[in-house]
Amino acid sequence: MAHAYSFPKDFWWGSAVSATQIEGAANEGGKGKNIWDHWYELEPNRFFEEVGPSATSDFYHRYQDDIALMKAIGHNSFRFSISWSRLIPGGEGEVNKEAVAFYNNVIDELIANGIEPFVNLFHFDMPFELQEKGGWENREVVELYAQYAATCYDLFGDRVKKWFTFNEPIVPVEGGYLYDFHYPNIVDARRAFQVAYHTVLAHALAVAAFRTRSIEDGKIGIILNLTPSYPRSDHLGDQKAAAIADLFFNRSFLDAVVLGSFPKELVALLDEYGQLPTYEKEDVALINAQRIDLLGVNYYQPRRVKAKEHLPNPASPFMPEWFFDHYDMPGRKMNHYRGWEIYEKGIYDIMVNLKDNYGNIESFVSENGMGVQNEERFMENGQIQDKYRIEFIKGHLKWLHQAIQEGCNVRGYHLWTFMDNWSWTNAYKNRYGFISVDVQTQKRTPKKSAEWIKAVSQQNGF
Ligand code: NOJ
Repeated sequence: MAHAYSFPKDFWWGSAVSATQIEGAANEGGKGKNIWDHWYELEPNRFFEEVGPSATSDFYHRYQDDIALMKAIGHNSFRFSISWSRLIPGGEGEVNKEAVAFYNNVIDELIANGIEPFVNLFHFDMPFELQEKGGWENREVVELYAQYAATCYDLFGDRVKKWFTFNEPIVPVEGGYLYDFHYPNIVDARRAFQVAYHTVLAHALAVAAFRTRSIEDGKIGIILNLTPSYPRSDHLGDQKAAAIADLFFNRSFLDAVVLGSFPKELVALLDEYGQLPTYEKEDVALINAQRIDLLGVNYYQPRRVKAKEHLPNPASPFMPEWFFDHYDMPGRKMNHYRGWEIYEKGIYDIMVNLKDNYGNIESFVSENGMGVQNEERFMENGQIQDKYRIEFIKGHLKWLHQAIQEGCNVRGYHLWTFMDNWSWTNAYKNRYGFISVDVQTQKRTPKKSAEWIKAVSQQNGF
């Protein structure tokens, strides 16, 4: 049957998760502590309803049933992350055999069910001991990360062909060093830039390590939350501020990993304010040599940027201001269950930009999704009737389809997320899954959207 929106052959349909958010078993199987375990011990009141990362959605014990459910809802691919502190407790030294067995089992189970594993190496979860050494501010940690990445390729590269060095690397920079929503809760732009820079370096070293191995058909990439920056008005100040936000939050990483160097305007701006990070001469050639094969794009909502009225900002002398609260912008479509804007065309704008300015690099939507608070209010006959989520996905897929029609090199669509999970300081506040999870009993129940995505995945369109 012909569909109005058909996707290219072998399109990747699936979803994404991360270790800390679903595995649970935080103190089992020989896992070391990461910064989330530590921060929760220190300040449980910073987490919604004081729910911490110890149990989350218990994938560690339930992965077989969960993978069966993935198959049942039509997934042909699935992204998860390896927990560095589970694989190498403390972040350096011995590999934990129980962790190797666990990740081997997950990978084998996925493949046996016809689901391609996409593996991400770092999803916000720095081993605590390495954070104590300064985390990404310390160049030694950069080296240790590259060793950890190499260990993962050697352990799992015979079966895993899609590798990602980082998920949303800008988020720990913003959260941990600018806006206080991740540990170590520092507010200092200079240190934030150092962390961002070292993350790019860590990425480049991990790509270099990948290139020295011959992983047949293997691809290496990164997952970036590309957030289109639109000025809130025609005022020159807002337009300039939007360009600065784009430089910091999109182009910093995107240019480095795809084009091999940082945007000149960004370097000039940092230099002007005396905030250039410390670097070594040979880094330039390294970053330039290590370009990615595949880019994952996470997209939720755009940034509507407004120039700052009150300068300077203590965290940064030149950062623009923007609003995640779009209620005062008449005509904007909103997800009222979460308070975020819905702007489906953003996904098209991102892909066209990649085509026009980034060599049409092979890409896929690695996260897109709709968080909903108190989602049980939509329960009818034992199932969450999430028609809003179906509409949300459809709206984005239509624009993605349009981008593909215009020649954008887009290979797949993954929803955030497979099942409801623990979302950092928001814990279980916003539910995003195809599958609902009762946190008390851990019972899984497919939502209406799970049935819908099954049909779409099987027909490769709608
Ligand atoms: C992006 C992140 O990768 C993920 O960890 C998070 O839970 C979702 N966005 C939803 O906020």
